[in-house]
Amino acid sequence: MARVLITRRLPGPALERLRAAHDVELWPERRPPTPEQLRARVADKAGLLTLLTDRIDGELIAAAPELRAVANYAVGYDNIDLAAARARGIAVGNTPDVLTDATADLTFALLLAAARRLPEAMARAADGDWLTWEPGQHLGASVAGATLGIIGFGRIGRAVAARGAGFRMEVIHTGRRGAGTPLAALLARSDFVSLHVPLTEASHHLIDADALALMRPNAILINTARGAIVDQAALLAALAAGTIAGAALDVTDPEPPEPGDPVLHTPGLLVVPHIGSATRAARERMTELAVENLLAGLEGRPMPHAVPAAPPTES
Ligand code: DGY
Repeated sequence: MARVLITRRLPGPALERLRAAHDVELWPERRPPTPEQLRARVADKAGLLTLLTDRIDGELIAAAPELRAVANYAVGYDNIDLAAARARGIAVGNTPDVLTDATADLTFALLLAAARRLPEAMARAADGDWLTWEPGQHLGASVAGATLGIIGFGRIGRAVAARGAGFRMEVIHTGRRGAGTPLAALLARSDFVSLHVPLTEASHHLIDADALALMRPNAILINTARGAIVDQAALLAALAAGTIAGAALDVTDPEPPEPGDPVLHTPGLLVVPHIGSATRAARERMTELAVENLLAGLEGRPMPHAVPAAPPTES
């Protein structure tokens, strides 16, 4: 039996398999452990089941001399210092595929909600300002026939493209090694721009003031990837200046934002609390994959969903 820390309650029955095989400690709170709290708990642990809110960096790894396996409950793993883990021979796994459709659905929900200004319309109905049927009120953007630009054409980007085709959109996308539409051309042509790259040094602030300036004034930006891919101050400035028409974010930087952060109170900006993979089925399957990874890693077997050796380019 190995000692394992799970850093949050997880949906589904799969954790029982882990409990049956190992000595499991569960962080019981809704908020994540602070780095200090995490460090204090890993000293005797061989396995960690972590969330994207847990920073597994060199310092944490140094505080965990017995650590052999880290199973991240996410497809993204920008919270883990892979080089530090590899240097110690620690196996690292993630939860790909099982959340692809859920995240693509949420991307499309955000796209449609932003195009048709749903939050404003709902607020108006609830506020008692629904006087009559008004032809000039709440005019939104057409989706059919519009151009959808997808940045990052991995599993989730391709699933969003399929939805776009179903809505009769013209879909363009960036691609690896010169394939696809170049980023600047994609930004200039798209009515909707949707982000599906992982957060890496190269994609940090990929959408900055210069990128936003290339976009069309009617364009809507959708981010269901990671908050720091967008320079949020530049986005707020672009919305205020009318450089682009709107944005819909499932992810922010920082995350979560402070209650007074303008990202939560800007007209034309729709924000939801990182719910891309939040269907019951996807989240329960994520638990299963994370448990399978951890069981394998602790037994010295290859993880079934080990993170790739090369840095990620798409999720
Ligand atoms: C991921 O998996 O990386 C998402 O952001 C959370 O499901």
